[in-house]
Amino acid sequence: MTMRIYVPSDSAALSMGADAVAHAVSAEIKSGKLDAKLVRNGSRGLLWLEPLLEIETPQGRIGYGPVKPSDVKAILAAGPAGEHPLTLGLVEAIPYLANQQRLTFARCGITDPLSLEDYEAHGGLKGLRRALDMAPADIVKEVTDSGLRGRGGAGFPTGIKWKTVLGCEADQKYIVCNADEGDSGTFSDRMIMEGDPFALIEGMAIAGLAVGATRGYVYIRSEYPHAFAQMIRAIEIARAKNLLGVTVLGSNRIFDMEARLGAGAYICGEETSLLESLEGRRGQIRFKPPLPAIEGLFGKPTVVNNLISLATVPVILAEGANHYKDFGMGRSRGTMPIQLGGNIKRGGLIERAFGLTLRELIYDYGGGTYSGRPVRAVQVGGPLGAYWPEHLFDVPLDYEAFAAKGGMVGHGGIVVFDDSVDLAKQARFAFHFCAIESCGKCTPCRIGSTRGAETIDKIMRGERVVQNIDVVKDLCETMRDGSLCALGGLTPMPVMSAMEHFPEDFDRKPALPAAAE
Ligand SMILES: Cc1cc2nc3c(=O)[nH]c(=O)nc-3n(C[C@H](O)[C@H](O)[C@H](O)COP(=O)(O)O)c2cc1C
Ligand code: SF4
Repeated sequence: MTMRIYVPSDSAALSMGADAVAHAVSAEIKSGKLDAKLVRNGSRGLLWLEPLLEIETPQGRIGYGPVKPSDVKAILAAGPAGEHPLTLGLVEAIPYLANQQRLTFARCGITDPLSLEDYEAHGGLKGLRRALDMAPADIVKEVTDSGLRGRGGAGFPTGIKWKTVLGCEADQKYIVCNADEGDSGTFSDRMIMEGDPFALIEGMAIAGLAVGATRGYVYIRSEYPHAFAQMIRAIEIARAKNLLGVTVLGSNRIFDMEARLGAGAYICGEETSLLESLEGRRGQIRFKPPLPAIEGLFGKPTVVNNLISLATVPVILAEGANHYKDFGMGRSRGTMPIQLGGNIKRGGLIERAFGLTLRELIYDYGGGTYSGRPVRAVQVGGPLGAYWPEHLFDVPLDYEAFAAKGGMVGHGGIVVFDDSVDLAKQARFAFHFCAIESCGKCTPCRIGSTRGAETIDKIMRGERVVQNIDVVKDLCETMRDGSLCALGGLTPMPVMSAMEHFPEDFDRKPALPAAAE
């Protein structure tokens, strides 16, 4: 029987040489010594093992990693039953993966991302088929009942947003997927686009049926060329196979979509800037109201959702709201794809129900720092998230529990730092980042960020430290209360958390004058 060999074509795997490994596998197959088929899958999210080569056996897939092209001959010669130093055993049994609850990422790394047949064989299209038999309001109710909240950062209930769009009368409505994924240390949107793109297409089609939208756009971060190309291919396949178009899965319902490349600015991830950019203008914040749900793309009612929110909808429709809602804690229902990065031994994607702790993530999954030095701080929720010290590592991952401690879950990115980190530098970086990325529409953010970076420079030089710390606090208050959007409004979070939890890093002394010769 033809053996299937998997080598990911995910960007993270490619950056570690997956293409060269795939070429080596192809060469072995072409040599005629092997009856095998090479599949370029997505990544399993075990990033320290990339490129992860897998060989299918009747017992499951046997993994090897990280694999170099020069390892391929020996791995294939030994075969899955043989011994090889890079053997990891059954991939599904690797604790990092076995201890996850994969709902949104159920197929990622398992299927051939561009095979609709494979997608369907692994549970795909079940949600859309069910939605096609439901009234729009019932689809919206199912999503509302699941407790799904936006995974782009704000955690707004997805069903409520959809209900607003459903309630609008308009000749055209839109579904816009936010795949700008600008947060530092985040990559879950990219992994789905590269590893399971039909999940997004199915989710967007369901959203279209739910609110009465017939067109969709996925706005993809410009730094994601592979994801962009993969989405274009997947959309073409979906159109050719009637998943998209004027007769969705043979019904009388219409939904089509296209992929657009982002403009390369962090602010283009904010929903109103994103709409400006999609319409061909510079990414700049629009005043709200009106909400995009009422007056969005080209002035029409528009659902703007993060990619993970939309890619989670198929499993909710397929398995029912209660199945999804059974995972999680408090008002944070379901699972969260967490992205573990920075100075960490085992970085990757961990999908688990809300409620687990940073300690479990950093030590049980991550294995501590890559450098081997003690963990000193983590930043959760992207560049606008808080820096937390170890005594907060037991706070459960939950929107409300994080907010109560001055942090945020955001898009689920966790960046780990060891004890060599300088939190004053990190605070300066937050202001500097805001200054570079500010759209310039409001003064607190445009000017405050630059003054903030200058003031931290003074603190770092030991100039009037106590007074300048007060200036920073004042600036932060003004930015938090007076900014038009969350870029200026949340920049105080990393700055203030760094000053609160790591005051010793701000206690600088002036440099001594150089001694006379
Ligand atoms: C400065 C800024 C950047 C943002 N970047 C992103 C982003 O890259 N991706 C994203 O999904 N949401 C981002 N958001 C949040 C979006 O404005 C919006 O809330 C989200 O797309 C709504 O989708 P959701 O409800 O599914 O989370 C950003 C917000 C701000 C203020
Ligand atoms: S806070 Fe910054 S990014 Fe947001 S509107 Fe104001 S200037 Fe633009």
